[in-house]
Amino acid sequence: MPETTPRGLTGLAFGGDYNPEQWPESVWQEDVRLMREAGVTMVSVGIFSWALLEPSPGVYDFAWLDRVLDLLHEGGIRVDLGTPTVAPPAWFYRAHPEALPVTEDGVRYEFGSRAAICHSNADYRAAAADITTRLAERYGDHPALAMWHVHNEYGVPVSACYCDSCAAHFRRWLAATYRTVDAVNDAWGTAFWGQRYAGFDQINPPRRTPTVGNPGQALDYRRFADATMRENFRAERDILHRLSPGVPVTTNFMTALSQCDSVDYWAWGREVDIVTNDHYLITDGRRTHVNLAMAADLTRSVAGGAPWLLLEHSTSGVNWQPRNPAKAPGQMARNSLAHVARGSDGAMFFQWRQSRRGAEKFHSAMLPHGGTETRVWREVVELGAAIDCLATVRSTRTEADVAVLWDWQSWWAQNLQWRPSEDHDPRERADAFYEALYDRHLTVDFAHPEADLSRYPLVVVPALYLMTKAAGVNLERYVDGGGTLVVSYFSGIVDEHDAVHEGAYPGPLRDVLGLTVEEFSPLLQGQSVRLAGPDGRELAADVWSEFVVPGGAETVWTYADGLPAGRPAVTRHRHGRGTAWYVSTRLGADGLDALLERAAEDAGLAPRTDLPRDVEVVRRTGESGSYLFAVNHTASDAKVPLETHGTELLTGERAAGRLAVPAGAVRVVRLDGR
Ligand code: GAL
Repeated sequence: MPETTPRGLTGLAFGGDYNPEQWPESVWQEDVRLMREAGVTMVSVGIFSWALLEPSPGVYDFAWLDRVLDLLHEGGIRVDLGTPTVAPPAWFYRAHPEALPVTEDGVRYEFGSRAAICHSNADYRAAAADITTRLAERYGDHPALAMWHVHNEYGVPVSACYCDSCAAHFRRWLAATYRTVDAVNDAWGTAFWGQRYAGFDQINPPRRTPTVGNPGQALDYRRFADATMRENFRAERDILHRLSPGVPVTTNFMTALSQCDSVDYWAWGREVDIVTNDHYLITDGRRTHVNLAMAADLTRSVAGGAPWLLLEHSTSGVNWQPRNPAKAPGQMARNSLAHVARGSDGAMFFQWRQSRRGAEKFHSAMLPHGGTETRVWREVVELGAAIDCLATVRSTRTEADVAVLWDWQSWWAQNLQWRPSEDHDPRERADAFYEALYDRHLTVDFAHPEADLSRYPLVVVPALYLMTKAAGVNLERYVDGGGTLVVSYFSGIVDEHDAVHEGAYPGPLRDVLGLTVEEFSPLLQGQSVRLAGPDGRELAADVWSEFVVPGGAETVWTYADGLPAGRPAVTRHRHGRGTAWYVSTRLGADGLDALLERAAEDAGLAPRTDLPRDVEVVRRTGESGSYLFAVNHTASDAKVPLETHGTELLTGERAAGRLAVPAGAVRVVRLDGR
């Protein structure tokens, strides 16, 4: 069995992508010396090195990588070794131009960037297996090897290819999934617009059509593209497991990035030995630390609650957004430790030494262009020391209070065209509900809709348009058993084929919610509705409204205006031993807070009035003890109540009563006797 933690690491991982091939060999010694100075424990090597490792077909040059790995090993630095299959060399594409992916418009991408791969292409698959085999044979038992890093960020920037090889592969996938073409016709509803197929050979990828294509076909193509990438991951992983037994294999995810929605990470989480994630701050005006917390919670959830590893984030600004602000002093450490609080067994960066050439030369790094006389370097050295103090946190697990349901497949379905309103964005609802829970100081686990939810007092369903019958049964069982459920509008509408559930909306949720929805009534841009509440307080909402017909549920908020004026807007239903809430419109932050306040009461979750906004408190617990992380994202010093005494690990001071957390700082208390 492969291990599930990086081999040979005793504390947390600290380091980054190391690309020595971008530098003369004379620099490598200095790299290792400075890595040691910064407390680096592991680096990721060779992710983009195929063209150097195999300079021409069948001719290999491993000598430079031998020297790099030996040097790192002498320096006591562990290696996360990449298979370079995200960057096939120019000679490969000259020989196999059809391995370049094709867009849905029929345009074939060119060589000259990275990740231009048709994952169905047989030549690519053979070449990837070959270079992986060579690397595994050579380095499978290298003493520096801590883990294998397959490929890089599957699914970005190319989420699917639409070429003829993919068409043939898609037909095989459909035949294996559905057995008969009539089953496909049925699932996709091809009776509509005369799209019926008489044989698998008539089916193509969902290439550009004059107007909207078949939604079932589009949804299945996303599943197919995801499954195809996973086939390739598994092929490499299995080679590595065979030739490098025991060494864990990962591939770096990007769980919460909305641009990376093409991968069903629930499925991928089961394939890797260690879940690893890349996270970058998206500067779109929202609170970046909330998105960070969400990404970390989602990654931990994909890992089944087990520790995971932050494989990439940035020391300061990135270079791929329209505007790339530098991180404020202290922000890098706060970001890193916020990931650790939520389950990461370390903090790694892209990249070690800032490039002078190529596309990412303006992306920050651990060792900036300015060298060691820089703020970033000083903060990196400080962070290395802090991470070192947290060694015993390793392998402990983050404790969550509530669950939010999350399903990439539902997201895919919901983002297809011709929906009631393009202003309804399922991802926006997930973010908004997460933020409302974050502001109530609740730690969130994400859960698949069919997962066991019984341990959570509160489960939130932000917008789960696609919901299987099994998921509906699961939610009903959860509420029956005493759980509190909050469901947002446009959930439980279609089944796994994007076919509307039989009967009134929301098919599988009617009973548990105690209502039906007669009709959707999306609002025009700029329109809003007012809701009249139990305490006389009004809430504002926009984007969406509905004609809700109660069938057992009580009305808690009523539409005060708009088309459904006088009808229920937010309802509450006692069902079995639990309670199910339904919200039929898009509430703003105040509205969500008011709703969650009531739902939390039902769930028996006491409010954390003792914590200031933007001061995060998260617990990790395990064999080595219980750790309280307090992350102060504000510009004021804060006090966090402790239930017991402990030792603050970053300062070494004893902590009791009210823990002082200076503005912008992080404190980690190892609680006594736990
Ligand atoms: C990641 C990628 C890295 C680097 C980084 C820059 O998505 O894996 O190779 O490009 O972004 O932020």
